Amino acid sequence: MTINYSEKIPNNVDLANDRTLQRALEHWQPHFLQWWHEMGPSDFESADVYLRTATSVDAQGWATYGAVKMPEYRWGIFLADQQPGRTIGFGDRMGEPVWQQVPGEHRSTLRRLIVTQGDTEPASVEQQRMLGHLCPSLYDLRNLFQINVEEGRHLWAMVYLLHAYFGRDGREEAEELLARHSGDSDKPRILTTFNEPISDWLSLYCFTYFTDRDGKYQLKSFAESAFDPLSRTCRFMLTEEAHHMFVGETGIGRVVKRTLEVMKELGTDDPAKIRAHGAVDLPLLQKYLNFWCSSSLDLFGSEISSNAATSFANGLKGRPDESQYQDHVLRDVVLKLDTPEGAQDVPMLNALNEVMRESYLKDCEIGLKRWNRAIERAGHDFRLTLPSSRFRRAIGSWVGLPVDPQGKLLPKEEYERRLHAWVPSDDDRAFVRSLMQKVTEPGKMAAWIAPPDRGINNLPLDYEYVHLA
Ligand SMILES: [Fe+2]
Ligand SMILES: [Fe+2]
Repeated sequence: MTINYSEKIPNNVDLANDRTLQRALEHWQPHFLQWWHEMGPSDFESADVYLRTATSVDAQGWATYGAVKMPEYRWGIFLADQQPGRTIGFGDRMGEPVWQQVPGEHRSTLRRLIVTQGDTEPASVEQQRMLGHLCPSLYDLRNLFQINVEEGRHLWAMVYLLHAYFGRDGREEAEELLARHSGDSDKPRILTTFNEPISDWLSLYCFTYFTDRDGKYQLKSFAESAFDPLSRTCRFMLTEEAHHMFVGETGIGRVVKRTLEVMKELGTDDPAKIRAHGAVDLPLLQKYLNFWCSSSLDLFGSEISSNAATSFANGLKGRPDESQYQDHVLRDVVLKLDTPEGAQDVPMLNALNEVMRESYLKDCEIGLKRWNRAIERAGHDFRLTLPSSRFRRAIGSWVGLPVDPQGKLLPKEEYERRLHAWVPSDDDRAFVRSLMQKVTEPGKMAAWIAPPDRGINNLPLDYEYVHLA
């Protein structure tokens, strides 16, 4: 089904034939626009941005490009096509038909899962709202705004589910999604990572590399859900999410490239000299990777979790790419987990957060391999690494323990003394912030980052991706 753009809310869910739902969403829409106006990208409302918009969910229509003013972006509700005869692919109800409605006994758990996912979408827009003023190029500015409007659409996706399937509770939750704000002391966002400030573009690239990738894993596990509307919603969101991670991976890759150029030019790997030349030294980049990776690892939850077990057993949330596994019920399997008290056998069902975290970390390695190849080719011994999943944990069995990025337990004093060798110090952040000079001449790049290999949608690099009015 193609999307009907003549309606107030573009959708492929036949909204016109459900007047009550349509009215409820049309009531929420101005609240969303007001939120965008107050909490979305600051000061760029009149700019024409070269954005992609979904006009259908198939391969031809999901990415239609054109210049749009962000407040006029057509945020809509798009579900991937229904798969006829789809059955539950895991858990104790495996093989039964999937659900088109929410079973009463799973109502509050599903609502919580959807609200928690939904909360991250506007949170990231809020975190990134000032970055436009510090953009390294128009190409990057456009990518930031593309991500922002799509996170806005992901909020719509979750709000649709809340309105359509959770009655009055759902409508109240939809309002709350606009009332909590990232970093707000009274009403913060639900998850810690989404309350961390993102005040420079190095953080943005790390966030889109690590935190949007957590998003990918959450969406993949919801795509397996027995609740079919959730599955279909998330399947379509994943097509958009890929671009967010692309921005992270290529962004960090371009920082590495530029740094290597500067190192070659100066004939040194001395961080102080590289910084004096206006580039990001590799140890500094490593600190940013450590910070955002460890923060994002918390998003998977505790290693041992009865919630994860129940959600899986009941068919609410599967493992990403569930079909790659042999056993989809997991009633008789254990996993050996490393805990601070030693190795422990845990029922696999209770260890699913850890299973997801491990596969996520493997996915994170892909970019590191690429960046390290560039460093190796340039003749340097330095290698970027991922921190151990025990490092800087704020949740689970390693919470608060003084563990170094290699996973080794240290005396507390030593850990505290060395922490700023591993994550950015105030000085590091101030330095990175000092690099952030706004560049808006078409085709030009800030001095700390290399240009991308190609433009957006086959356009040249010096295309005016954002026309600043
Ligand atoms: Fe998202
Ligand atoms: Fe995203």
